[in-house]
Amino acid sequence: MICTDLIKAIESIAARYEAQQVGIVSDAAVVLDAVTSRYPTIRIAVSEEDKSLETVQQIWDFLFAHRITRRGLLICIGGGVLTDMGGFAAATYKRGIDYVNVPTTLLAMIDASSGGKTGINYGGLKNSIGCFAPPVETLICPDWLKSLPANQWLSGFGEMLKTGLVSESSLWYHLLRYDLEKMDSEALKPLIAQCVAAKKRIVEADPKEEGLRKVLNFGHTFGHALEEISIQKSDVSSPPLLHGYAVVYGMIAELYLSVVKLGCPKEPLQQLTQVMLHYYGKPQCKCSDREALVALMQQDKKNERTAQINCTLIQNIGSPLINQVITPEEAHEALEYLFSL
Ligand code: GLY
Repeated sequence: MICTDLIKAIESIAARYEAQQVGIVSDAAVVLDAVTSRYPTIRIAVSEEDKSLETVQQIWDFLFAHRITRRGLLICIGGGVLTDMGGFAAATYKRGIDYVNVPTTLLAMIDASSGGKTGINYGGLKNSIGCFAPPVETLICPDWLKSLPANQWLSGFGEMLKTGLVSESSLWYHLLRYDLEKMDSEALKPLIAQCVAAKKRIVEADPKEEGLRKVLNFGHTFGHALEEISIQKSDVSSPPLLHGYAVVYGMIAELYLSVVKLGCPKEPLQQLTQVMLHYYGKPQCKCSDREALVALMQQDKKNERTAQINCTLIQNIGSPLINQVITPEEAHEALEYLFSL
């Protein structure tokens, strides 16, 4: 739900529960005193390294310490790492209590905070432990975007572009017309609403990703590999790729394969390439990374058979095709195209 008065929206949901049965888990960097001063709050750090069982234990301990029962409510305030972990802690505490997401980043508003995917990183693998457990509500307040850094805007916008490509051409063209230079949260509101509605339709039809929901993985087979390699190579002078940037680069590779393998028209590839070059810059990977990238794609958790690379591709804007198997040679070719831009 998009809300103009976030405090009122939170209070109206919290009022459905006994006051002593409401707790908050908040990103340590987020300030929302009007709410956090009213209910017990645990503040946590939210890097990918913190997305761990230890942090979930802290949230469970907090819930036990405040004697939250199965009729309780956990309000999760933060970006995608926080809402994934808060949702997982709520879904497993006493076999599951209600939780509400209050996403504070564009990426979390568009993707992570809705649809019920919860979890943590484990064994060196992203989101490898978790469960499907939808929040009772996701309260989206675009005012948070006013203080969001530019790279976080672009990261979230990458997932919006993906939603446009897999759902409907009118949304895609609206997104292309949006002036990213201005980063105007008011003007973005209707587009956020359309993206959230498109994801809701998909998730309602296939909540556990048995088929249709895989369309939301467009750009993510190549994207996850690019993200992973950037994490492996990161240091203080070169931070890892933000998720939405990786998805944009992944979509370029997967649009290339959509053109070559499925006869998708070239326009969306050309349009996304322009957006990439103008706003996101070229990927920092080198041609010598191609072997490692293909090996990572062969291990992707989305693959149904060992070492067989599985992608969502599109036949046209709004016509995605799931479960497209691509060969390592085709993966190399798509990477060669991406790195040649
Ligand atoms: N992030 C894609 C999904 O929720 O299915």
